Parts: sequence; C-alpha cells; structure tokens
Amino acid sequence: MSSDSPSEQHPDVLSPDLLGDWQRSHDCGSLTDADLGAQVTLMGWVATRRDHGGVIFVDLRDRYGLTQVVFNPQHNVVAHDRADVLRSEFVIAIRGSVESRPQGMTNPRLTTGMIEVNCDEIRILNPARPIPFQLDDSQDLGEEIRLRYRYLDLRRERMQRNLALRHKAYQSTRGHLDGQSFLEVETPFLIRSTPEGARDFLVPSRVHPGQFFALPQSPQTYKQLLMISGYDRYFQIVKCFRDEDLRADRQPEFTQIDIEMSFVDENQIMRMAEDLTRKIFADVIGTDLPNPFPRLTWAQAMDRYGSDKPDLRFGLELRDAAQAARASDYKIFQGVLENGGQVKGINAKGCSKFPRSQVDSLVAFAQEYGAKGLSWIKHTDAGLESSIVKFFPPTSQALLIEALESEPGDLLLLVADQPAMVARVLGALRLELAKRLDLLSPGDWKPLWVNEFPLLEFDEEDNRYVAMHHPFTSPLESDIEALQSDPASVRARAYDLVLNGAEVAGGSIRIHQSLVQSRMFELLSIGPEEARAKFGFLLDALEYGAPPHGGIAFGFDRLIAMMAGEDSIRDVIAFPKTNRAVGLMENAPGTVDEHQLRELGIRLR
Ligand code: AMO
Repeated sequence: MSSDSPSEQHPDVLSPDLLGDWQRSHDCGSLTDADLGAQVTLMGWVATRRDHGGVIFVDLRDRYGLTQVVFNPQHNVVAHDRADVLRSEFVIAIRGSVESRPQGMTNPRLTTGMIEVNCDEIRILNPARPIPFQLDDSQDLGEEIRLRYRYLDLRRERMQRNLALRHKAYQSTRGHLDGQSFLEVETPFLIRSTPEGARDFLVPSRVHPGQFFALPQSPQTYKQLLMISGYDRYFQIVKCFRDEDLRADRQPEFTQIDIEMSFVDENQIMRMAEDLTRKIFADVIGTDLPNPFPRLTWAQAMDRYGSDKPDLRFGLELRDAAQAARASDYKIFQGVLENGGQVKGINAKGCSKFPRSQVDSLVAFAQEYGAKGLSWIKHTDAGLESSIVKFFPPTSQALLIEALESEPGDLLLLVADQPAMVARVLGALRLELAKRLDLLSPGDWKPLWVNEFPLLEFDEEDNRYVAMHHPFTSPLESDIEALQSDPASVRARAYDLVLNGAEVAGGSIRIHQSLVQSRMFELLSIGPEEARAKFGFLLDALEYGAPPHGGIAFGFDRLIAMMAGEDSIRDVIAFPKTNRAVGLMENAPGTVDEHQLRELGIRLR
C-alpha cells in the first residue's frame, strides 16, 4: 500500500462506517428555504472542509449541487469530533435539520445558498487519498493528468455539465426520430471491413485462426441491407471505429447518429436532418437555428471559401483576380494563368494597418500550407502600395480594386497557383485572418449544406481513383455518361452538413442497382473477385428487390462539443483516448499473455 493511502493517513477511519439502513432523502442540490425545519439525510463527497472557531463547515457535493453542512460541537459533540478527520473527497452520509444560514452567510448563486444542514449524525462511508488536482473549474489542468485520473476529472462541474448535455442530446434525438417513425436497430461490431477511408481495427478470431473481424468504421453496409429488408426508416446512435491520425475533433472510437431512409431523394434526407439538428439545438441549448439551412454546391464552396466546410460566421470571401493579373505586367501571375492556374485573393478589410511583422507571418503561414508565395498589397489613401504594384498599371489596379471590392484601409492578399492549392492556401488564410481579427463568435450558429461533391478523388500514391464519400454513393444522374470518359468530373449525390466550419454530418443517396455498384467497384480498381469477396453479400442483396435509398450520419461527439462550447471532442466523451490513441487511465492498449496469443494463433515478431 502506498504511503499516502487514506487509511494510513487517517487511522481513525480505518474501518469506515456502514451505510446501514440510511437512505438519501434529498440530493445535494435541492434544499431551499421551503425545506426549513425538515430532517434530511444527504450523501456525497466532501468538496471543502473549513474550521471556523471550532465549528466545522463542509460543502457536501454530488452531481446535483452543493449543500453546506455544519458540525457545531455545541449542537452535537460526537458528530463534530467525527467530522474533524474529514478531508477532500471523503464520501459521507449525514443526518440533520435544514436551517437558515445566518445573515451575511447566504450565497445567492447556489440553489441551496439560503440554507445549511445542522448535522446530528455522520457516517464516514469511505476516506479518500489526497487528490492530485483540485476539482474546481477555475483551474486550467493539463489534459494528461485529467485523463489519467478521469474518474476524478469527471467529478468536475464542467464535465458533469457536458455529459448531462450529451444525455439530453441522446434523448432529444431518440424522441424526435421515434416521433418520425424511425426504428432503432443495432448492427454488429464484429464484421467484415466497411470502407470509410480509414484503416480498420482488426479483431482476431480464435475459432478461425488466421482470420480477422474488423470493427465497423460505420454501419454503412448494414443500414443499406436494412433498407433492402424493408425497414425504410432506420436510425442508431452507434460507436464507429477508425484507425486514423487523431486531432481535436477525431477519436479512434466515436459516436454517430446513423440514419437511412428508403424511397427518398437528397432533398428529403437533408430536410429530415435539418429538422433533427434544429430540434436538438432547441432542446439542448435553447437555440433556434435558421430554417431552411442555406446550401452551396461543393464547387461554389471551394470557389468562394476555398473549403468544403466553410465557416460562414464571417465574410473574407475569395475573389478572382485573374482579369487584373492579365492586365498587369506581373510575369509570375501570368505564367500561372497560362498553365491553367488561378490568381485569387482575399480582402482583409481594414488590415492595411497591420505592421510588417504581422504581414510577414501571414506570408509564412501561407507557405506552411504549400503556397510558393503570398503577394500582399496595402490600400491606403494614397492608393495601392506594395513591392509588386509597379507591375500593375492603372487599369490593372482598377480591376484589382473592383474584383476585391477594396477601399483605403484594406489589405489585399493574393495567391497564384493551381486551383487546389489556391483553395487550400486561401481557405486556411481566411480562417487564420478570422482568428486574428476575432471574428469567430461562439454563440453565432451558421449551418449550411454542401452538396454535389465530386464522386471520385485521384489517389496519386496508389495511382487510382478512390471514392470521395464511400463506394456506395450514387453519381448524379446527369453525370453518369461521364463515368467512363471523364471520371474526375462526375458529381456525387452526396451532402455534408457544416456548422461553423466543422463537418457535423455527411451522407449520400446510394447506388441501389447491383450492376451500377459493380461498375463503381471497377472504377475504383476493385476487381470482380475482390468485390465478390468483400461485398458479395451486398451485391447479392441488391438483386433481391433493393429500394432506392439514402442516408446520413452525424458526428455526435462533434455536435455535442459545439453545443457545449468545447474545442475538443475529448471533453464530451466520458473516457476518451489521447491524441496518441491511448487510454491513459486504464493503460490501453497493452500487451497480452503468451497463451492468449497462442490461442489466437498469433506470433509476435
Ligand atoms: P462520414 O465518414 O462522413 O460518413 O462520417 C460521418 C460523420 O462522423 C464524424 N466523424 C468523426 N467524428 C469523430 N472522430 C472521427 N474519427 C470521425 N470520423 C468521422 C464527422 C462526419 O461528418 N457511413 C457514412 C455516412 C453515410 O453515408 O450515411 C459515414 O460514416 O462529423
């Protein structure tokens, strides 16, 4: 036993009291003036213990609140003496009477702030070691210690608030979807791989040595099979597992609200998902989101915001400066245009006053994102000023001012490159500027749909096309012709729900004909044998009366983090993994016994 074990530090509580027949009469957050005179039994944790001139005050805490308990030797000397050993986080039960707090001792910020409980009897149910950090929310704790002692961290008010909010969102989701005739169905976790673009987590089969289950990256194929089985409105709040690089908004296991519907088109699914989102926001944080949500096609979003998940809380849109560049003598810009590139810019409104160091750091920022350079021009009362202005004759300057709607006081930031790079750099720069200019207001909600994504993406490394959403997504009917001739131009019947710059949901109308699905696999260089081996069940099922269908999945953790005002989804998950995909508290993953490996037919190198 370590030296700071509670029983060594507190030998007098070596044998804690039994709960006996005591039952809680109230929680720690509910007693008010209305209860004056009542005899109550409370149980909870010692949040603080103060000794004021021989009288001991304890703030007793549970997840409902705090109640002040008074141990006055003149009232009950036995209880008082017993309370003397109390320390933070001891678990106790007390009995006493509800009394008014003396004048000047009330705390109007607490529900229980007008009363205190005068203790007649105490039972110490369990002592506690000194805790490694204070539980009050004012402390800015490192995440490592919080995750290592997650069971203590979860006692903090902030985490309790977040988990309660999450609970409300589950209830709101279930209530709403139940009311719309959706059926909640569970799908298996031990499956054959479903491709969602990440690596699978594999589970070895003991019964079939050398064979592996995959944990689902999503229930995608199962929900499609449920449509074929006639369950035309399905949902599930479900864990998904993806072995990918982690970030603040990504976990190896995360939760989706997964939905699928039959006999619908994308508009019906988007409307259903909007209604659900509005309902959750209204129920959980009392916020009315707009109705309807605006929509942009993927091409529009990339053109205007340089991103497929634009944050619409602020402007700073990308503008095309090609005309001005053509009218200039600036060889770099012209060369890029001749090579099929773009010249685009952002007008950083009112930023001509940025000091040189600030502008230089924007240039460095753009370079980090892959830009060869970032040209900048200050618009002052004297006109445009910059080292490149000499290449811009007056007509070209006028075109630039018009294209970027520039006025004296503005700072123009220009990038010339291939379209994908221009979007990447200016998209990131737009967000960076918004941060520096403090334009990201947390209480402002700007949802939007982005649809008509490209169906395919070319994977340079593998030298083949991959599905941008997943291989079951249907192409836009008007683009089917181009599937053979110009696959890159084909648009998908796919849509993402974006909220304040985060992708909170994504879905698509599916391919519901076996032949089309087989052709899609071919296009993705998944040969007939591989397709049969991996997806034979789906290809077969599609031949037994598959209705047209489509669906969507919400990133539940992201939605909750946003409503809770948290930057990281780890703060809304009870037991998350770190960014390095480990469970710090339970020390997972870990090694296993040799005999377990042998049973599984696995030998480690
Ligand atoms: P998709 O892969 O777009 O679609 O996932 C849906 C939503 O899940 C969230 N998300 C994540 N959240 C936390 N950690 C992760 N690692 C993570 N990965 C994704 C995002 C995303 O929008 N089967 C399809 C849905 C469909 O087509 O119906 C799917 O899973 O918020």
